[in-house]
Amino acid sequence: MKVVSVVGARPQFIKASPVSNALRQADHQEFIIHTGQHYDYEMSRVFFDEMELPEPDVNLEVGSGSHAKQTGEMLIQIENILIAEKPDWALVYGDTNSTLAGALAAVKLHIPVAHVEAGLRSFNREMPEEHNRVLTDHISDLLFCPTKTAVGNLINEGFKNIAGDGNLIESTNSRSLDSFPLILDPYSSPLIANVGDVMYDSILHNIKLAERNSRVLDRLKIKPKNYVLATVHRAENTDYPERLMSIFEAFTQIAQDDIPVIIPLHPRTRQCLSNSKFKIDGFVKTPSPLMGEGRGEGEGGGEKTPLRIIDPVSYLDMLMLEQNANAILTDSGGMQKEAYFLGVPCVTLRTETEWVETVETGWNVIAGADRGKIVEAVRCFKSGSPRPELYGDGRASQKIVEILTMLTC
Ligand code: UD1
Ligand code: UDP
Repeated sequence: MKVVSVVGARPQFIKASPVSNALRQADHQEFIIHTGQHYDYEMSRVFFDEMELPEPDVNLEVGSGSHAKQTGEMLIQIENILIAEKPDWALVYGDTNSTLAGALAAVKLHIPVAHVEAGLRSFNREMPEEHNRVLTDHISDLLFCPTKTAVGNLINEGFKNIAGDGNLIESTNSRSLDSFPLILDPYSSPLIANVGDVMYDSILHNIKLAERNSRVLDRLKIKPKNYVLATVHRAENTDYPERLMSIFEAFTQIAQDDIPVIIPLHPRTRQCLSNSKFKIDGFVKTPSPLMGEGRGEGEGGGEKTPLRIIDPVSYLDMLMLEQNANAILTDSGGMQKEAYFLGVPCVTLRTETEWVETVETGWNVIAGADRGKIVEAVRCFKSGSPRPELYGDGRASQKIVEILTMLTC
């Protein structure tokens, strides 16, 4: 079997890593396209250097731009590669512009498309990610869902061809799959398989490595369970100055309780902050670490600034920062789940989440960009609720490869 995988943004490197390894272990051929959507060292290269992630076969170097420009340039280049490589499958991940470009280029060439992390919905049509997810799901042939909720979302949109009863596929041995209608037919509804979450596979594999190898707490001179970790990058926060301001005011208020707030800052947010009046309003004193002077770990903190704004960190460092935090404040999709996997309280800086199970189990509070709600959520969080295995059994990647193989033969 030959697979062309399309990745390009930070979370996709983390999702693809266990699947690429499972493909190699099963002796399948994989051609990896890196679209170049993310390109800074700490947004891209660091993941290839640190994780067991095969080198991309090609980097399209598309870079940043408007949605149309970025997606359009990817489409043109991916089409050429798919024509040359003639894969059995195009494999796409998540909900970025790279996801949509990969799926759209393949479906037009009648190459079967498999979507990993299918069925997620925020029901917020203002999010670019929601457009990408809905469109990708509706043009894919095989939808690998991470949860029962995701399967339910697809059923509500009219999808009918579900492997089993939509619960987690326990095993992909031939016997258990005999009972599933594994039908792949371009004229029928795409096949939906609940295999669990590849990010759970990834964290199970990498957490011990992180515990052994990461020195990030020492480098930042912070102590376990004595800081709050925060990330912000969603367009709905960065592109609205009043929301971004409110979120950073909340961080500052939390830091005033004598608890460091560590913020590995996404370049998008860095740019929005440096274009705004925040730097002169006192969030970051000049000379500003947001402005690139003396950037690096440990910068942006110290005695004078209340917030520890640092560059994005590697995945292993991030796992350590997450595991040892008192709480995680984030608008990241992946980090809401990682907080749950690691049993760390999460406050989501959005008005809704796709990962509703984390809220239902009491491990995630939706606070939006509301300063009061964010501060209150951190101060009043009641942890200790049970954490059922909501995201599979850590073998999503193997199941994905086995199902792809079965459908190729
Ligand atoms: C993208 C995804 C989002 C995902 C996020 C993961 C889309 C529409 N959005 O958002 O779903 O959660 O990745 O991190 O696909 N930039 C750099 N260096 C880089 C990358 C980006 O400076 O290596 C800056 C550029 O100014 C760029 C901006 O960040 O314009 C936004 O980057 P882009 O890839 O368009 O979207 P993200 O916000 O990263
Ligand atoms: N991450 C990382 N370093 C960082 C911030 C995030 O390694 O500085 C990891 C994080 O642990 C998670 C993934 O990147 O696995 C989430 O990516 P991001 O928040 O950019 O995107 P989203 O999940 O919201 O699409």
